Amino acid sequence: MSVNDTSTTSPLAQNKHLATHIPVLAIDGPGGAGKGTISRLAASRLGWHYLDSGALYRILAYAGSLQGVDLQDENALSQLAGKLDIRFGIGSDEGVWLDGEEISDQIRTEQAGAAASRVAALPLVREALLQQQKAFRRSPGLVADGRDMGTVVFPDATVKVFLTASVEERAQRRYNQLIAKGIDGKLCDLLADIQARDERDSNRSVAPLRPAADAVLIDTSQMGINEVLITVLNLINLQTP
Ligand code: C5P
Repeated sequence: MSVNDTSTTSPLAQNKHLATHIPVLAIDGPGGAGKGTISRLAASRLGWHYLDSGALYRILAYAGSLQGVDLQDENALSQLAGKLDIRFGIGSDEGVWLDGEEISDQIRTEQAGAAASRVAALPLVREALLQQQKAFRRSPGLVADGRDMGTVVFPDATVKVFLTASVEERAQRRYNQLIAKGIDGKLCDLLADIQARDERDSNRSVAPLRPAADAVLIDTSQMGINEVLITVLNLINLQTP
């Protein structure tokens, strides 16, 4: 896979030894806890790079479906992961491109999320995507959003945060997002989807969803975006000069 960020040259060209000195803010947690929003805002405030690791699993599942690959076929999917041409745009160019085609909306559906969660349970797929994720660690720093950022991909992250919220609150937030986009959805269906995804992500054999031992847990159920952002930025500011 070639993963391109429009802001700099290829991340794969980075010196691995230098990379370990670059600060990482790892933000993990279940879907709908606010990781994406908080991670993007934190990256923007800090002037750091941003890794949306969930998007990689979503893109792979989407590409697999397009090509008629069985989403249980671990070998085929891990090979496909090495061939995808992905570009993440940032700032005014924000979005996701696959083989030159913008697929930002296609990978954000509930079905795409459920398919991503299936392919993400396959060990060879996770292995195939590991180095690409590590390559996002570039100066001056990285905000990494996912399920296993603090446990597997960046175990030496400078600060590890685990964002949670009750399943009801997460379903309600997702419902509000859909309504705001003019998309119809049933709250009870969203609740069931989120519960099924939590179950699969938490009980898989590789990199299950769980907080790192040294993660700071933040329950965002009763918190506004700004409050969460300030809490997270305070944690990183305490650790970086
Ligand atoms: O975060 P997002 O909802 O985009 O992630 C989609 C799916 O990808 C998750 O449900 C999870 O199964 C998988 N994922 C993962 N590890 C990550 C990020 C996402 O397994 N680091």
